[in-house]
Amino acid sequence: MTVNSLAPLPLSDEEVPLVTVSDPNVSLDDLVLSVQTFTALREILNEQRQRSRLAAYGLSPRSKLLLAGPSGTGKTRTAEALAYSLGIPLVRVRLSAVVSSYLGQTARHLERILDYARHGNWVVSFDEIDMFAGEREDADHGEMRRVSTVLLQQLEEYDSDNLVIATTNHGVALDSAMWRRFDEVLVYRHPTQSQIASLLEIKLRRFRYKINKEQVSRVLSGMSHAEIEAICLDVMRKSVLTGGKPISTEDIMDSAAARKRRYKEAGKSQP
Ligand SMILES: Nc1ncnc2c1ncn2[C@@H]1O[C@H](COP(=O)(O)OP(=O)(O)O)[C@@H](O)[C@H]1O
Ligand SMILES: [Mg+2]
Repeated sequence: MTVNSLAPLPLSDEEVPLVTVSDPNVSLDDLVLSVQTFTALREILNEQRQRSRLAAYGLSPRSKLLLAGPSGTGKTRTAEALAYSLGIPLVRVRLSAVVSSYLGQTARHLERILDYARHGNWVVSFDEIDMFAGEREDADHGEMRRVSTVLLQQLEEYDSDNLVIATTNHGVALDSAMWRRFDEVLVYRHPTQSQIASLLEIKLRRFRYKINKEQVSRVLSGMSHAEIEAICLDVMRKSVLTGGKPISTEDIMDSAAARKRRYKEAGKSQP
């Protein structure tokens, strides 16, 4: 960790830490993303690394990113991987500690966080900002709307060398006022069938398997990366406990069906 991470963490008025600091250890290579998203992320890393070269021409790297898309598609993981790739810590803002029932207090918390963040060399993540922004359209949530305005204003005025990454599970619900505040908006989606095949290859790489990729990809289509990962974990556990039997198409279909059934029973519409 860098020296600056030894500074005392910013605290809420209730003395709860407003951020956590960590050194992630995951690389972008473990993610399955669209070519466009990968390209954008690599460009962004390159800009960050060559900051001084850009500065010589009065330019700065893109540094405020919004990652939007359904849950379990790799947004949180991307923030970790970017910090890892840049070799700097990740400061995660604890939104649950930031938001208070008093707008003034929330604003004060945000100010404390940004004051702290601007003095260090790290990636700063505002994970799942839906908490602020998701209700913006809803007239009954005037308070949330005001809170979200405060966050957006502070982010807009935030001038630092930090790479700031906000994520939201409800991209479409955010209005354009929100999007305009970011240098780049990357949209995350459920994996396509060919991405599912790559995902299986990555997640099952330590195991022996004999699967019909086409069939399996069709069955898993519509699920998130995280849900498919959970199925891979099911079949890997099973393989170990049955004496190392190679993983089969049927194993994956069984786990997918069982999970779909359980989700249905739990009253969720999504698998
Ligand atoms: N695009 C992806 N490629 C590979 N694994 C993924 C991907 N998205 C999610 N996962 C797996 O699911 C876990 C949860 O993903 P996460 O980044 O928390 O999703 P989100 O923040 O979009 O809800 C990750 O740690 C990773 O193991
Ligand atoms: Mg997340």
